[in-house]
Amino acid sequence: MRKWIIRILGLLLILALIFYIVRVMMFRSNSEELRWDWSSINTNDLYFPKNFVWGVASAAHQVEGNCTNNNWYAWESAVDADGNPRIHNNEKAGLACSHWSRYPEDIQLMKELGVDSYRFSVEWSKIEPSEGQFDDAALQHYVDVCKALLVEGITPVVTLHHFTNPIWFEDKGGWEKEENIELFVRFSQKVFVALQPYVKMWCTINEPNVYITASYVQGIFPPGGTDKQVAATVLKHLLMAHVETFRTLKSLPGGQEAQVGIVKDIFQFDPWNRWNLFDWYLTDLTGKAFNESTLQFFETGDYHLSFPPEANLSYTDKNAPKTLDFIGLNYYSHMVLSFGLDLDKALQTKIREGEVKTDMDYPLYPEGFYRALKRIGEVGVPVYVTENGIADAQDDRRETFIRRYIYAMSKAIRDGVDIRGYYYWSLMDNFEWAEGYTMKFGLYEVDFGTQKRTLRKGSKAFQEIVGKH
Ligand code: FCB
Repeated sequence: MRKWIIRILGLLLILALIFYIVRVMMFRSNSEELRWDWSSINTNDLYFPKNFVWGVASAAHQVEGNCTNNNWYAWESAVDADGNPRIHNNEKAGLACSHWSRYPEDIQLMKELGVDSYRFSVEWSKIEPSEGQFDDAALQHYVDVCKALLVEGITPVVTLHHFTNPIWFEDKGGWEKEENIELFVRFSQKVFVALQPYVKMWCTINEPNVYITASYVQGIFPPGGTDKQVAATVLKHLLMAHVETFRTLKSLPGGQEAQVGIVKDIFQFDPWNRWNLFDWYLTDLTGKAFNESTLQFFETGDYHLSFPPEANLSYTDKNAPKTLDFIGLNYYSHMVLSFGLDLDKALQTKIREGEVKTDMDYPLYPEGFYRALKRIGEVGVPVYVTENGIADAQDDRRETFIRRYIYAMSKAIRDGVDIRGYYYWSLMDNFEWAEGYTMKFGLYEVDFGTQKRTLRKGSKAFQEIVGKH
């Protein structure tokens, strides 16, 4: 009898071992942590299709100034449970780059760079300061911006939601409530009617997964939530809002000529140790929740977000795959995860030996940009890189970043991904959300005392590439 038990246990052990090896092999081949030998690569060897669009990007709250009626304004003066400020150094967006009034000067900067297009967002709380009350002067401001761009031959691209909500919307439960979706759709319709004569490309929602992670998992964006099931619900509502906005805009006059898409961030999660089942499990789980939840919704119509034991949500809308004229990709880097007993702490970024760090908590990883482009290309609609850039206050990594990331994109194009354009984040230094003003993402350095803008040395690589291609 004992012999038999030992035999069965032995067999089970062998089976478990085989299962483990097969899973690890499968994982390896699905998501290899790509590395190229940069010493043998000529980053000037670039290829872009005809009519490839070069642009720069920004977002209202980060640059305009005087956004005093949204959830971030309130958040910037709030403190956490221990009485600490929410924003690094207790900074507030305040006047930001004063872009609201200085946009004509900023359009001249775009001309100096030689770009064809500008992606910016409209501030919902300025256009609809209280529920159902629309401010025509605010809408007119954005019409003026679009006209000024077009006069200079620069194509406007509008983002309808870039992280901020009006205070009145947040007070009604914001994106946690399904019944609030229609309020966003109504706002989008209002903006579309006013700007549609000037704007042909529309991004509905910026980075839904970053929004839910920062606002409802990490608690570093308003409303400071830390409940993964609520996060999963909010993501579902954001995706539903995209679908509804797409349908509505397409049905309006000018809708058929408009290109409407969503902006998806991809951040790969790679295991610190490929052969450690726990690192691998954590990485797989996080990648599925952060990247695949949204991508698969647009590929299959099935939304599934699971983070056991805390979150599990499924939803299906078989029409979702038909609601993208294009998909925007925001890409910055990857994160290497290792498993810790405390799951929340396991989500730390580890920097591998030899990797160069940006000023943010992640390294330069151009190969990851290539991986992300390949993945997002599988969605099957044209791809625009709607954001890509580096925080580099010393300006000693920016040129390398630009040359290597753009090389990686060009390689993805050569390898068959249908990429139509690239928007650098960002035109100028700005208010970097929870990080405040310390993160310097600008091609132009901004002196926030005088509002003087100066082109950084490293940014000239971008200007040169745009000029040549
Ligand atoms: C992205 C945001 C953008 C900016 C960059 C650095 O996640 O969309 O507003 O903060 O990161």
